[in-house]
Amino acid sequence: METKRFSNQEIEAAAAALRDGQLVAFPTETVYGLGADATNETAVKQVYQAKGRPSDNPLIVHVADVETVAALTEPLSEAAKKLMTAFWPGSLTMIFKLKPNVLSKAVTGGLDTAAFRFPANKTTLALIKALGRPMVGPSANTSGKPSPTTADHVLHDLSGKIAGVVDDGPTKVGVESTVLDMSTDQPAILRPGAVTPEQIEAVIKQTVATEVHKVGAKETPKAPGMKYKHYAPAAQVYIVNDGDWQSALDWAGQQPVQIGLMATKERLAGLQLPTNVEVFELGQNVTTASHLLFAGLRHFDDEGEIKDILAEGFPANGLGLAYMNRLKKSAGNVFFTTSQI
Ligand code: TXA
Ligand code: MG
Repeated sequence: METKRFSNQEIEAAAAALRDGQLVAFPTETVYGLGADATNETAVKQVYQAKGRPSDNPLIVHVADVETVAALTEPLSEAAKKLMTAFWPGSLTMIFKLKPNVLSKAVTGGLDTAAFRFPANKTTLALIKALGRPMVGPSANTSGKPSPTTADHVLHDLSGKIAGVVDDGPTKVGVESTVLDMSTDQPAILRPGAVTPEQIEAVIKQTVATEVHKVGAKETPKAPGMKYKHYAPAAQVYIVNDGDWQSALDWAGQQPVQIGLMATKERLAGLQLPTNVEVFELGQNVTTASHLLFAGLRHFDDEGEIKDILAEGFPANGLGLAYMNRLKKSAGNVFFTTSQI
């Protein structure tokens, strides 16, 4: 199958392919998603195939209005409505209890809940409206690889496996949406993202649980997706904290091979780099670093020869919570210390 690159003007053609049961990747403000008509079970099953995704990992249902959510779910709580008003369209995905038999098992992974997201991207909102149905969309990467933040990343992973990708340029945020479980008494963050726990608490005047995604090996994770290996480039990533840069670079300089390095301009300005270090800049701060993180991991994957990457750590608050969550997964939670290497 030849995968078509649609411009952000070719909404009708892209929607026609979706209506026809084909897969079309779409832009959002976070990362690119792999779209299919949520009401077409055959199409939804193909999403799992194209990504190589385990079938018990449910998909996010993307909508372009609140009414579609209300029609599929048990009555929405006041807190849920407040969060929709505050953050939709935007990077907050919410999990609600479904009415019986409204969505296929292929979408929900057999759960009695589903995750809903109203993305902040005009092109994709127009696409969903043109489709006239809700649209499932996991991130449009091969399962286990960093999420795509450009149409080129999507084509790198899925070319030949999907009908098309709507190219709307690089995404803004760069890490996936916050996943908030609203189906339990206390709202719980299952995956940190651009919308922070503090922002959510300020709206609903209630504390949210943030540690629920740390599960033991035998437990069932709340968000099934959190149990799988994620964002992993071919190279080993080492997270470098503030005080460890000098020893990390001393180590790098002693290696007989090229070493990758991902850090902000400010960080780089204070470092004396050995000649065998290849740099991918992460901009100025945690916002730009989140925007560029997956692109950097993919960059070193494409180089092929880089086996070790040193990557800048940030304090895990605000957007840093989401950045560190993804970076830790890509590193298998490995931090640089001289004893580890
Ligand atoms: O920013 C995003 O959220 C992107 C864009 C494309 O919208 N989408 C995305 O989808 O990251 P995906 O499938 O890669 O991640 C969805 C996460 C998974 O960890 C999945 O297990 C969890 O949400 N999830 C989906 N439905 C769920 C449910 N009913 N209960 C618990 N977790 C759920
Ligand atoms: Mg994903």
